[in-house]
Amino acid sequence: MDRIRIHGGARLTGEIPISGAKNAALPLMAACLLTDAPLVLSNVPWLADVRFMGDILHGLGVDVSHARNTEPGESGRVALRAANLTGAAADYDIVRKMRASFVILGPLLARLGHARISMPGGCAIGARPVDFHLKAMEALGATISLEEGYVIATAPAGGLKGGRIDLPFPSVGATENALMAAATAKGETVIVNAAMEPEIDDVGRCLIAMGAKISGLGTATITVSGVDRLHGAEHSVLPDRIETGTFAMAVAIAGGEVELTGTHRDLIGTVATLLESVGTTVTQTNRGIAVQRNGVRPVAVDVTTAPFPGFPTDLQAQFMALMATADGTSHIKETIFENRFMHVPELARMGADIHVDGDVARVTGVARLRGAPVMATDLRASVSLVLAGLSAEGETTVNRVYHLDRGFERLEEKLSRAGANIERLSA
Ligand code: EPZ
Repeated sequence: MDRIRIHGGARLTGEIPISGAKNAALPLMAACLLTDAPLVLSNVPWLADVRFMGDILHGLGVDVSHARNTEPGESGRVALRAANLTGAAADYDIVRKMRASFVILGPLLARLGHARISMPGGCAIGARPVDFHLKAMEALGATISLEEGYVIATAPAGGLKGGRIDLPFPSVGATENALMAAATAKGETVIVNAAMEPEIDDVGRCLIAMGAKISGLGTATITVSGVDRLHGAEHSVLPDRIETGTFAMAVAIAGGEVELTGTHRDLIGTVATLLESVGTTVTQTNRGIAVQRNGVRPVAVDVTTAPFPGFPTDLQAQFMALMATADGTSHIKETIFENRFMHVPELARMGADIHVDGDVARVTGVARLRGAPVMATDLRASVSLVLAGLSAEGETTVNRVYHLDRGFERLEEKLSRAGANIERLSA
């Protein structure tokens, strides 16, 4: 199994290109199921999860062709055509490996009138039920039954019908499933308490390009007027705000001055403001965002994760790595997932002073972390260890790199080009 080795202490300089967003690319790929015409996505990151979603769609009868990028900063492309669907099922092994695959439920139900998808079960970061997804489908007239761990969903005889979907929490995945299912439902659907993450906006804009009628994107109330059919489209995936925030924090941790290209400050507004209060400057440029921290040690500040536009849970681990060397004590509260502190014991192996009490981690910054062999059980936790290694004294080896490969494109190459002393060790 590959590992990543880092010798800490190098400042970061130059530029880092930001890839397209994984968490937009996955539901966007699923949107191809809604039409028999081609959907062509550009700015697609070349990631294990994207390839896996391609395999799932291929298994349903979709023609999938990937044209990967060969350089960081180049746009990858995926062309999808669901002309003849041959299946409407996703097995336990698929959904267990990648929960995001559950987002095929809405499009399959809309296109074929039925779907059989495994219940995901819990995962490393929490229980993560799918009850909101299922209630949303029921609000559109679907009948749902659970059989032997599978969700069996069936649309009414004339297809899904528009309805009011009240989400108890602004779930990202449930909002995406609801949007896609409602696009061709008969009549009007109103999604109340919809997620406002930029990835929802991106999926909505792609559906509009495919002929859907959607208003209210970016707000908590989204209205969809069902159309008879959708057509093909070309769509460029929005920049990855979690990758943007991760590299901004890398600069805050390692020190230096880096331009993150192909991204936008608005995508990480709350994060940028927080980083500024820590002692890092984050400014919009013509090509992206300039991030700078020179000299002064980062200052400890408190943070609580929240749905967009709040501080993202997907950046909590990285921010904790930053606070681990800050001047003072910070309190980091995780409100989205109940088990998202797996990086804490690993950061502690590097000398971090962190105490967890329920959903709050109290982090007292130390002057410098020490390199150590570490590993983590999810994507964002793993990258937080890479960030910690950038400023730690000596050598850090991050094991289980496959987590990183699920969601960070060419991580070590991008950091190494910016001056980090980092390399991948192949098994
Ligand atoms: C998306 O997951 C992201 N994944 C996650 O990114 C991200 O952490 C999360 O949103 C929150 O921003 C993708 O976009 C592919 P939710 P999702 O439904 O859609 C509870 C990463 O590292 N809930 O908004 O699964 C749930 O348990 C990942 O890239 C229910 O109770 O998240 C959680 O506590 C990890 N019932 C909260 O809502 C439901 O039916 C938010 O989950 C659905 C969710």
